[in-house]
Amino acid sequence: MNDPAPVAETAPGLTRVVLGVTGGIAAYKVAELTRLLVKASVTVDVVMTDAATRFVTATTFQALSGRPVLTDLWQTGADNAMGHIGVSRGADAVLVAPASADFIAKLAHGHADDLLSTLCLARECSLLVAPAMNRQMWANAATQRNVAQLAADGVAILGPDTGELACNENGEGRMLEAPALLAALIASRQPKLLAGKRVLLTAGPTFEAIDPVRGITNASSGKMGFALAQAAAEAGGVVTVVAGPSAVATPSGVTRVDVTSTAQMADAVMVRIGACDVFIGVAAVADYTPAATHEQKLKKTPDALTLTLKPTVDILATVAARAKAPYCVGFAAESHDVERHGEEKRKRKKLPLLIANRAQDALGSDENEVTLLDDGGAHRLPRMGKLALARRLVAEIAQRLPRS
Ligand code: CTP
Repeated sequence: MNDPAPVAETAPGLTRVVLGVTGGIAAYKVAELTRLLVKASVTVDVVMTDAATRFVTATTFQALSGRPVLTDLWQTGADNAMGHIGVSRGADAVLVAPASADFIAKLAHGHADDLLSTLCLARECSLLVAPAMNRQMWANAATQRNVAQLAADGVAILGPDTGELACNENGEGRMLEAPALLAALIASRQPKLLAGKRVLLTAGPTFEAIDPVRGITNASSGKMGFALAQAAAEAGGVVTVVAGPSAVATPSGVTRVDVTSTAQMADAVMVRIGACDVFIGVAAVADYTPAATHEQKLKKTPDALTLTLKPTVDILATVAARAKAPYCVGFAAESHDVERHGEEKRKRKKLPLLIANRAQDALGSDENEVTLLDDGGAHRLPRMGKLALARRLVAEIAQRLPRS
């Protein structure tokens, strides 16, 4: 079972968000989203439709956001009675969640008969919509037509998920969870530095089997690899992660290929590499694997046990040596002399860019402190959270990509 999606402590690019709540049982999840946004220092203006107030009270959102909740087109408190204009001005995004089938229909047709639909029309910022409804309502041709119209109008449609629905049925129509909505809001504000670029990453540890129940692995969590995958997807990249055993959740919009051993990781990379623009080797790949795997569980004896190990294939060096290699980025975890060992590794593997860090700083931690090594020398970055670092590294990689 995966960990829940990592919850951002900060929300880069977001200062003020308008949350539009329409009538649906999933409105309770937006209470959680409000809390997450406020925790990330984002000002939240909640606007509720009349139907929404039948599911969650305005008092709940007022308490969580610390601001008045707006429900009425005619009583928004604006001096010139132009509240529908004022509410969305200066906002970084408007997110309608849950978005009912009825509200989606209104949006698709440009209706403006309540505060929320009016401010959606009057807004200058991006609009995101998180549908939540019964599976038949979602599948209905009219809803699909309306959603397609919104997408064509540049509205971001978030989900819905498939799963258990409030009506006790199972299917597509479940609203995304609060952390996924927060991630989508943040992603909507990130510059599209990798627009259309195909990015392949490796992440996590590998596991080299000794027998059916034992193996050799390491303490890599996969957090840095998945943070980079998330940042690359936010930047508009088409992202695939080949991951060794890792409990980290797959960021939205990222394709995940699960593998166990180095050999499997190498195979999964090689079949995909031809179509790639960027390859980032973040995985802590085992350098050795048992020369022979025992088919049956090894039995304990009083004698010492000697395992013979053979070297594994170096995935990154193999990719970098290809005739039409993608832009290759390596990681190096060193216990000492980080820059010297890192630069040796970069030269040996023929990489344009290597990201070096102290192994004891990075493994399993939520933060990291790295040095970028390229032909121009060493560039140190300050210590920061892995997601913030990942966004910075994506910007660093994007500016180094050859112009096509
Ligand atoms: N790498 C790889 N395939 C391997 C080993 C490493 O793709 N079989 C990649 C890693 O994903 C990382 C970089 O190469 O990007 C790390 O290089 P490596 O020489 O393995 O570093 P260390 O494991 O730190 O090596 P050493 O033990 O020699 O310091």
